[in-house]
Amino acid sequence: MSADWFAEHGGGVRAAADRWGRPPEDWLDLSTGINPHGWPVPALAPDVWRRLPEPDDGLEDLARAWAGAPATAGCLMLPGTQAAIQSLPGLRAPGTVAVPYPGYGEHARRWRDAGHTVVAMSAHRLPALAEQVDALVWVQPNNPTGEWLPRAALLDARQRLAARGGWLIVDEAFLDDPDLSLAPYCGEPGLLVLRSLGKTFGLAGVRAGALLGPPALCLALSEKLGPWAMSGPARAVAALALADQAWQRGNRRRLAISRERLQALLERHRLPAAGHTDLFVYCRTPRARRIADHLARQAILVRGFDDPPALRFGLPGEESEWRRLERALADSPSLY
Ligand SMILES: Cc1ncc(COP(=O)(O)O)c(C=O)c1O
Repeated sequence: MSADWFAEHGGGVRAAADRWGRPPEDWLDLSTGINPHGWPVPALAPDVWRRLPEPDDGLEDLARAWAGAPATAGCLMLPGTQAAIQSLPGLRAPGTVAVPYPGYGEHARRWRDAGHTVVAMSAHRLPALAEQVDALVWVQPNNPTGEWLPRAALLDARQRLAARGGWLIVDEAFLDDPDLSLAPYCGEPGLLVLRSLGKTFGLAGVRAGALLGPPALCLALSEKLGPWAMSGPARAVAALALADQAWQRGNRRRLAISRERLQALLERHRLPAAGHTDLFVYCRTPRARRIADHLARQAILVRGFDDPPALRFGLPGEESEWRRLERALADSPSLY
């Protein structure tokens, strides 16, 4: 963890433990948007561990069906969508790329690292930027702000970009509603959709995600990542989780209820939501750092942002965790 712990990636419990002098097992980690009640992973067949992963195991078809993508769309399974975020910029000649700001910082960083010029974008600039840039990234819903763009606006941007050989990359890492995804349009030129199993399935550790898009592009990325990029156990777990539609339906309902509960809890402590997904609540507050410090002293880790000052709270899991967050916020009313 750097000197500025506040605005680091979420999930750094060990580093927080060092910094605040509390052992890792004491921490309630609300700094990520990972489902605390993830898909229950069963024991895997011994062969899955022993054999090399096989690319014709049917996982891509399952992923297309899960995402609602047409059979003609390209699909590349990934060791987390991060793998595509890192490698896609290398598949284009340096140009200009718009990325959402505030947003998931890895997009801007990786395009910049690959020699592209990065333009920070707020949602209302989508139509204008789609006429100007070579590639445009949108996170739907956006992390951390929870903003949504209408599907029609994104499809219009796709058309404008594709007319000039450009790309629209829609990062749906936090999206779990088949009716809102752009995946059904995958296969159309210039549209790339990222889906993750890390967030709503609560399987961030296994590293599993998918790129849906033009088949030639999926092939080019696959060649860049090399053979066996996603492990056999990750492919086996992903196949079972993607096929488990009953769990997915129940999970959607449970997450929506938990998120409403978290939003109400935060509101009671004068932290109204400025935005949300079903996996986190985003609160704008000038006292973001002070509140994050106060919570960290009680071994509760949240994700902070400086510009604008804000906090992102992931969902507590167990009842005791909900009570702990409530107590910690009630503990120091003068802060808020
Ligand atoms: C918006 C967004 N996209 C993609 C990722 C990468 O997730 P994964 O590699 O686990 O799929 C993250 C991780 O936090 C994220 O916030």
